Amino acid sequence: MLLMVRCLLPPVVCAAIALAGPAYPDRPGKKVVERVCGGCHGLRLMENMRKTPAAWKTSIDDMVTRGMKASDEEIDTVNAYFAKYLTRLNINQAGPADIADVLDLTAQEAEAIVAYRKANGKIKNFDELEAIPGVDAKKLNEQRNRIAFSTVAF
Ligand code: HEC
Repeated sequence: MLLMVRCLLPPVVCAAIALAGPAYPDRPGKKVVERVCGGCHGLRLMENMRKTPAAWKTSIDDMVTRGMKASDEEIDTVNAYFAKYLTRLNINQAGPADIADVLDLTAQEAEAIVAYRKANGKIKNFDELEAIPGVDAKKLNEQRNRIAFSTVAF
């Protein structure tokens, strides 16, 4: 069901909220995340956190030591969900499969970014990224707080 809620705030604020997108997208795994992580401190604690997939894994393992009850399968699901939707991706280091997966781009769009990087060197900032031909700038804009431009791996 698509729920349309009219935004009663000034238009600029409404646009900012719309751009931020939902913290926890309705994608496979969300129900498990709600059940497994919602218990002790709720999901709001993590909604603005952006970590690398490895850092999420460390946090999630840490929750097990704090008493989190979940099957191995549920933990895999939760790791995959956080790795995909609450991560920061280093656009200058990631391979095409990770770019497509984490930023929900098509394989062609991810390849266009990698080809651009090979031809022109590191991408300096968001303006340069969204100007790459063949890439949907709107899709990238919705996720701009998830994209890092570091020249070193993390
Ligand atoms: C058994 C209870 C419990 C469950 C279930 C639980 N947590 Fe926690 N979590 C804690 C406690 C306790 C803290 C520490 C709170 C503090 O430091 O004030 C914490 C803190 C955190 C933090 C902040 C510290 C950090 O590592 O950055 C994150 C992130 C976090 N939890 C993520 C998760 C995620 C993701 C899940 C689901 C996979 C989850 N938690 C499920 C108990 C739990």
